[in-house]
Amino acid sequence: MSTPKKQWILNAFVMQSPGHLNPGLFKYPRDKGRKYNDIKHWISLAQKLEAAKFHAIFFADVLGGYDVYKGPGNLEPTIPAASQFPINDPLYSVPAMAAATENIGFGITASTTYELPYALARKFSTVDHLSNGRVAWNIVTSYLDSAARNFGLNTQIEHDERYRIAHEYLDVVYKLWEGSWRDDAVSNAPQGTYADPSAVRQINHKGKYFQVPGPHICEPSRQRTPFLFQAGTSTAGRKFAATHAEAIFLNGHTAELVRPSVDSIRAQAKELGRNSHSVKIVAGVLVIVAETDEKAQAKFEELARYGDREGALALFGGWSGYDLSKYGDDEDFRFLDSAPPAVRSMVNHWASTSPQGWKWNKKTIAEHLIIGGNGAKIIGSPTTVADELERWIEVADVDGFNLSYASIPETFDDLIEHLLPELRRRGLVWSDYAVPGGTLRENYFSEQGKNRLSDSHPGAKYFWKAGEEVPEYMKDASDPRSKDTIEQAC
Ligand SMILES: Cc1cc2nc3c(=O)[nH]c(=O)nc-3n(C[C@H](O)[C@H](O)[C@H](O)COP(=O)(O)O)c2cc1C
Repeated sequence: MSTPKKQWILNAFVMQSPGHLNPGLFKYPRDKGRKYNDIKHWISLAQKLEAAKFHAIFFADVLGGYDVYKGPGNLEPTIPAASQFPINDPLYSVPAMAAATENIGFGITASTTYELPYALARKFSTVDHLSNGRVAWNIVTSYLDSAARNFGLNTQIEHDERYRIAHEYLDVVYKLWEGSWRDDAVSNAPQGTYADPSAVRQINHKGKYFQVPGPHICEPSRQRTPFLFQAGTSTAGRKFAATHAEAIFLNGHTAELVRPSVDSIRAQAKELGRNSHSVKIVAGVLVIVAETDEKAQAKFEELARYGDREGALALFGGWSGYDLSKYGDDEDFRFLDSAPPAVRSMVNHWASTSPQGWKWNKKTIAEHLIIGGNGAKIIGSPTTVADELERWIEVADVDGFNLSYASIPETFDDLIEHLLPELRRRGLVWSDYAVPGGTLRENYFSEQGKNRLSDSHPGAKYFWKAGEEVPEYMKDASDPRSKDTIEQAC
């Protein structure tokens, strides 16, 4: 008997901005990027993706402008190209999209560096309630100096320190989400009362970075802790992912280049006592698909004509921290000793799959990033694209894809019309949600009843189960926190 093929996770990867990974494409006549301020635009996209059975619509987000290129502090190349600027906060659109759908999940990026955990926990509990458990938090530590300056810092907090803060941050929110309200605090409240005060507890978190007495100001939502996504690939980022993430988003130019990161995350998760394949990994990919390879290539070239090269170099500046305006137009970064090693290695990766004879100068870098950013690009007929995606799953050992767009919603329309039927024919994607009306966690794991974090997840040690006098982590009677129920605190 042959083993059934693993069914892939598919997310749409978007941003509430006129341009995401497609600077300048708002000028392309069929692109609706300019409608990012219109809630109907997002509702209609969510409905369309739900009808096509996407797992989630995943919103990237940033908290500052891309002002490194020709900078520092210069947004002149960024603003005309709408390079992720202007950008709205995606969280506020979740209730409207949720009211118009039943199954699709909503991934929301939010930073542990610039918002306090108590406020973030409240916001995510609110949208998890209003969406009936369909929210994911994409945990990021952020990367833009401009964000740091706007949040009152002279420069960014040092990279690994941001991750140390993030670890403690997660402890605080787990305590609020999992350990502040007993599971039956509301359902088993004494007659005539809303909730049992002895089942709602201070968390009294006193750490190096945060002081949060609690209790959590929201009652627990269906998932309690929203489904946890993470994106970050440095050594510290991978350790953080292996510890906390239930799903991880990786970018990479080729499947071969992504594989070592996947192996490293899975190995670390295993060392930490987690099931390495229970951590879902999705790769960022741009797919341009049409009836034939030729038509798909022609479509890509047409789209690329609208791209803004200066805007692409502005994005590169923000992502890498390097200002390419300091280099000559003709300098090939693969061989340039004065180029930062990180840039040389990035360009060498890209060059490994580019046609022979390409020169990797500023112009080529801009061309390369004009659509789809630093993720892989797959262009072709349904058969070509499906073959290549199958190869990705095999070679990179990923569980699915975050599919970005060149033109919104046209790129998704093309995927739905051309690619999804081919993937369904091959048995690679589900034909319906595993748990219709279920939470995002139930659908991500295809497991009915799996609304909560797994027992092997570090957040599980804060569970406060029905019938327990105090949560497990507070059982030590010498710990003063073990006495802080609301009744005693008042
Ligand atoms: C694929 C991918 C997507 C990301 N998306 C975002 C995002 O939407 N917003 C953000 O602030 N950071 C985003 N990041 C940044 C990371 O979360 C992280 O803060 C940053 O990359 C620095 O960590 P690192 O050095 O571990 O990668 C993304 C990173 C990756 C790899």
